[in-house]
Amino acid sequence: MNYLPSADRYEKLNWRRAGTTGLVLPEFAFGLWQKFGDRTPYQTQRDIVLAAVDAGIVHFDNANRYGPPHRSAEKNFGRILREDLGAWREELVLTTKAGNPIGPSPYHRGGSRKNLLQSLDHSLRDLGTDYVDVFYFHRPDPTVPLEETVGALATAVQSGKALYVGISNFYDRAEAHRAAVLLRETGVPLAVHQSRYSIFDRRLETDELLEQSAEDGVGLVTYSPLAQGLLTDKYLDGVPDGARALDSDFLSSDDITEQYRQRARALNELAAQRGQSLAQLALQWVLRRPEVTSALIGASSVEQLRHNLRAPGFAPLTEEELAIIDRHGVHGTGLRNA
Ligand SMILES: NC(=O)c1ccc[n+]([C@@H]2O[C@H](COP(=O)([O-])OP(=O)(O)OC[C@H]3O[C@@H](n4cnc5c(N)ncnc54)[C@H](OP(=O)(O)O)[C@@H]3O)[C@@H](O)[C@H]2O)c1
Repeated sequence: MNYLPSADRYEKLNWRRAGTTGLVLPEFAFGLWQKFGDRTPYQTQRDIVLAAVDAGIVHFDNANRYGPPHRSAEKNFGRILREDLGAWREELVLTTKAGNPIGPSPYHRGGSRKNLLQSLDHSLRDLGTDYVDVFYFHRPDPTVPLEETVGALATAVQSGKALYVGISNFYDRAEAHRAAVLLRETGVPLAVHQSRYSIFDRRLETDELLEQSAEDGVGLVTYSPLAQGLLTDKYLDGVPDGARALDSDFLSSDDITEQYRQRARALNELAAQRGQSLAQLALQWVLRRPEVTSALIGASSVEQLRHNLRAPGFAPLTEEELAIIDRHGVHGTGLRNA
């Protein structure tokens, strides 16, 4: 093991508290969803993860489903942990999730106690760690009583396999509140809610989930703040080689419509007037809300990562600029399931 993290890494990012918990987190978290499976060279993955640690990121987001194939992102991250980061385990916040389907078996999907707790054990083996810092229920499952799901999350903490619990993709305000109330009754409070939020996905605003999370004392970890790359300049004039839209089950070149381009170009122009990139504008926009604990970003290169982490250094967005963003940041642009 030759890696030594940069000594000043804790001074590089701003930190925020997750709701009313004792958990503080840097305002950027890094996710291993699509580019940390078996299609990306291990060395590239390692370079990005270690650059993230050096830049001050401690919070790495995983799930049983991430790859492709499913489970490979946890195995690959487990190797980085074993070979490079093991000595710093206590200084990292590692998460995993279960609930989204990872196979045809009914025990590989959904909110049952059986799926959630088995999956957590499997993730711990793949990651090579005794506990995760946050165990998430990945998305609502209307076929299973929320009481059972919440009970399984509480068991994860009570058994020492997770330190905190979270929910993800609860876009119904009442359901998100009910999960928080039920968890509080178990004595294991809901620490974080992971949900999608960007200039092109406004559900947290329209469904008042920002306010509800604050009321429930729950931190928001907001994912895909760049709308998987749509809120960068990469698709303004075509679909470049190596872009996610060419090689993803979740973004396709069909999503890059002329209407999307018009809106992204207008936002890009505003960013240029402010002396920053569209990516940096989009990240600053998400982080303007105090209810947001961390913007959960992805990157396919060290350069993208470093560029994006400079976002908080620009002047705060003015009311006038926010109004321009509202005009062009139409909910649903380029997105599926919004
Ligand atoms: N809970 C859930 O259901 C859920 C769902 C989705 C995601 N997540 C979490 O959120 C994390 C982040 O999601 P995401 O990857 O969609 O986030 P994102 O930050 O919106 O998108 C990241 C992608 O945007 C492109 N990009 C980033 N910086 C760029 C730059 N400066 N210039 C040009 N392109 C740039 C890259 O795509 P290219 O590959 O094209 O270069 C990169 O992989 C995931 O890894 C996962 O942990 C959670």
